[in-house]
Parts: sequence; structure tokens; C-alpha cells
Amino acid sequence: MKKILKSLVLFLMLVVSSLTFAKEKLYVGTNAEFPPFEYLDKGDIVGFDIDLVKAIGNKLGMDVVIKDMSFDGLIPALETNKVDIVIAGMTATDERKIAVNFSNPYYTANQVIILKDDNKDIKTFDDLNGKLVGVMLGFTGDVVVSEMKNVESKKYNASFAAIMELQNNKIDAVVLDSETALNYLKNNKGLKLADTSGEPEEYAIAISKKNTELLNKINTALDELKKDGTYESLLKKYM
Ligand code: ARG
Repeated sequence: MKKILKSLVLFLMLVVSSLTFAKEKLYVGTNAEFPPFEYLDKGDIVGFDIDLVKAIGNKLGMDVVIKDMSFDGLIPALETNKVDIVIAGMTATDERKIAVNFSNPYYTANQVIILKDDNKDIKTFDDLNGKLVGVMLGFTGDVVVSEMKNVESKKYNASFAAIMELQNNKIDAVVLDSETALNYLKNNKGLKLADTSGEPEEYAIAISKKNTELLNKINTALDELKKDGTYESLLKKYM
């Protein structure tokens, strides 16, 4: 009897200690097809956003668990509590603000036009008139192009697929966020950017409307990471 009691006490102590030491988890949704913000490297999800959110997790004393999913599934995942936050180079648009809260912005970008080197007739967004343009489903570039009259868009799930089709002359251009476009240019020959400057877009972390406490904590952590040089060193590492 004593022996059983002893092992019971030991077991209970073990349970209590593991509860005290296990960090709370922070479930983070992303779509790892957006270099240099999030992408797969030999099967690992890496990138600017991933390092940034891990640094935020550190500040909050939470264990970051990354969940990779399709871009248009990210906001629904937040709304159904499958993830706590989303970091995905996501632009804080007015439309999305109806569904979720956004942290303070952490990066500014804009839409650009990617072309084949030998393209001579597309110089501005107006020149996309009558052309077939590749966009990624649910990205802001998709919205921008869909609002243009006389422009036909072809929607892709992943930007590398659109880039490939551009290289094979299946489409005339790709509209994509600036930093990611530059990243594709760096790694693919025969491409160039049209000389345009689209409206600035601010990337921010999305959080469920129900979780204002977490929103405040994340903003504080972001501020701290900007002050202590972490943010700057991540820019240097990835951009
Ligand atoms: N900034 C654009 C948007 O908010 C594209 C983001 C794409 N991000 C990604 N991880 N796939 O729509």
C-alpha cells in the first residue's frame, strides 16, 4: 500500500512540474511560398517572418508552432481558432480589417510587374490592357489586377508556378509584391521588372478580433525587437 502511495505521489509531482515548465504554445499560420518572408528550405519553413515570429515568441515566453497552409485559408484559420496569429507578408487591407485585427506594420512593399527580359511593350500598369497577367489567388496583386478593366488574369496557387509560366510565354506578365519579385529575379534568369511604383502596402501580423490582449503583447514585442536591433539584423539577413 505504501509503495503504491509513494508512486502516486511521485507521479503527481511529475505531472505538476511538467505543467509548470511547459511553455504555452503560440500557433502561427503562414503560407511558405513567399520568399524571403516565408519559404521552404530542404523541407524546413524559414524566412524573415519566421525568424521574426520566433523572436516574438521568445519575448512572450511562448513556444512558436508554425502551421503551413494555403494563403486564402489563413484568415479562416484565425477565425476558427486553428491558429492564434498569422504572419505571411500579409498586407493589412481595409477589407481584411473587417475580419481580423492587425499588429503595427513591420514592412512596407508595393505591387510590381515582372516581365520577360525581351518584353518591350509593357512599361506601366496601364500597358497591361489586353494582356494575360498571372496573379496568386487571394493576394493583393490578385485584387489589384481584378479591378483593372480589359485585363485578363490567370490565378495560381503558388508564385513559382506563375513565374515558370511567364518564362514559358504562357502569360504576358506577373503582378506580385516587390520584395518577393526581386527574390525571384535574383534566382531566375531572363526576367525583369517594369519600372512602376504601385501603392505602398503595409505588412502586419493578423490576430483574431477576440484576442486583444495578444494583440497588445505582440505590438510591445515588435517595438522591443525594433529597439534592440533584432529587426534590423533580420532585414540584413533576408533582404
Ligand atoms: N502581401 C500580399 C497580400 O497580403 C501577398 C502575401 C502573400 N504571402 C504569402 N505568404 N503567400 O495579399
